[in-house]
Amino acid sequence: MHIHRFEKIWIGLSLFLIAVCTGIVIYGFVALDLKVPGIADSGTIDPMNLAETEFAQPGVRKVGENEYEVYMVARQFLFLPGTGRPLTLPAGAEVTFHVTSPDVLHGIHVSGTNLNTMVIPGQVATFKTVFPEARTYGMICHEYCGPAHHTMEGLIEIVPPSEFDETTLLTSR
Ligand code: CUA
Repeated sequence: MHIHRFEKIWIGLSLFLIAVCTGIVIYGFVALDLKVPGIADSGTIDPMNLAETEFAQPGVRKVGENEYEVYMVARQFLFLPGTGRPLTLPAGAEVTFHVTSPDVLHGIHVSGTNLNTMVIPGQVATFKTVFPEARTYGMICHEYCGPAHHTMEGLIEIVPPSEFDETTLLTSR
């Protein structure tokens, strides 16, 4: 069978690209030890029983001098905290988010940042960040989760540390 020279070049290029992409994925997992959020480093949870976990009381806890933890529930069709009333955090603090869902697959993206993860029922997505300056960020759900998916949004309000109201913090359970 005769294969045209250009066709051979394109076949070669396609195979080369597949090899490069596969290589990058393998390199990431093996050499850089990258993990899928919520599976390798965050653990699992019973989505039917959030009432018996830290997620029973979603909100912000202070865990260190300038360190906070956010327990957030993403569900049809809101973020708790974040929807209705903004999630308020102080600028410059180290913030660890733990996000889970009791119903269906959701996503969370904080606009203007690289914070972006899927929220899978039964999994806890955990990520750390620092919001350097006082400003307001929008957050949206980016996984289709039902008829009102497009309305699922919230706000994160970053305030100067001196204006952060510690009375809004949850006490440890
Ligand atoms: Cu939640 Cu889309």
